[in-house]
Amino acid sequence: MIDLSARIGDLELTTPIVAASGTYGYGLEYDGLVDWSRLGGISVKGLSAEPSVGHPAPRMVETPGGMLNAIGLQNVGAEVFLRDKLPKLRSIAAHGPRIIINCWGNTTEDFVRIVERLEGIEGIDVLELNLSCPHKHEWGGVLAADAGVTAAVVTAVRARTKQRLWVKLSPNVTDITEIARAAEAAGADALTVMNTVRGMVIDVEKRRPALANGSGGLSGPAIRPVAVYMVWQAVGAVAIPVVGAGGISSGRDAAEFLMAGASACQVGTASLYDPAAPVRIAEELAKVLAGLGESRVQDIIGCARRPV
Ligand SMILES: Cc1cc2nc3c(=O)[nH]c(=O)nc-3n(C[C@H](O)[C@H](O)[C@H](O)COP(=O)(O)O)c2cc1C
Repeated sequence: MIDLSARIGDLELTTPIVAASGTYGYGLEYDGLVDWSRLGGISVKGLSAEPSVGHPAPRMVETPGGMLNAIGLQNVGAEVFLRDKLPKLRSIAAHGPRIIINCWGNTTEDFVRIVERLEGIEGIDVLELNLSCPHKHEWGGVLAADAGVTAAVVTAVRARTKQRLWVKLSPNVTDITEIARAAEAAGADALTVMNTVRGMVIDVEKRRPALANGSGGLSGPAIRPVAVYMVWQAVGAVAIPVVGAGGISSGRDAAEFLMAGASACQVGTASLYDPAAPVRIAEELAKVLAGLGESRVQDIIGCARRPV
């Protein structure tokens, strides 16, 4: 028997594999397709205080070994989520998966509003702040590309919530260690590393960018080595746990992130073509561990960092 249990700070997960935000809807859409008792957690689609329609179509295009998306953070908004989605999500959580509410805003005040609205609500295990959105007022760039802005948002949110706070970082930075330290110092309980990589595809026949938004976020296997490196860098920079994400589509891929020092993994794009991917990947991980002569996930975390 392989012990797949994972721990992110004080939060225990049945397996280290969590469904990543934006690729698993609100979790409910997958009811009946997966065995919930074998999923570590669900990070729901990025939630804002008000509903958002997102960007115009086309919003997705396939790329070699991945895809590019510019959904534009479409979501139902906090009120509809709390009324129509969370009650059902709570019943799913009763079978095991942890509920992670991915939140976003374009200003520090937006983040404070959504976090305050979710405060004290039963059935939420973690708030995951998506700092990969553009900051409208103070700065004008992607939040997580600036250590000062990252610190300001996390500090403001930390002061308003007792929930566990995971801060999700962007790879579109010069030095992720600086941003990781800023998030930790401001009160993050863990980091999720990483979000998508900025990219663009040109539709040659149309002589235009393929996505209506122009650029988008690259995800899937093509970004995995970038993500493993970002996790490696972040783990070396902070004392809080790091949750790895980026191109994981097999148990072996997940093992890479754990060996780099991630405490758990998130699976995104793979769920878009295989709804049971997070559960399948956990099963594959158990086989990878058995093949290595290991019996516990905990024993391989960070092993690639240790001198031989
Ligand atoms: C269609 C799509 C929508 C996404 N929406 C969100 C989102 O709302 N919030 C967020 O933090 N990340 C979002 N992401 C990023 C994923 O959660 C994940 O960090 C990224 O795709 C890398 O993992 P992957 O290669 O396994 O997909 C989205 C990704 C995709 C492909």
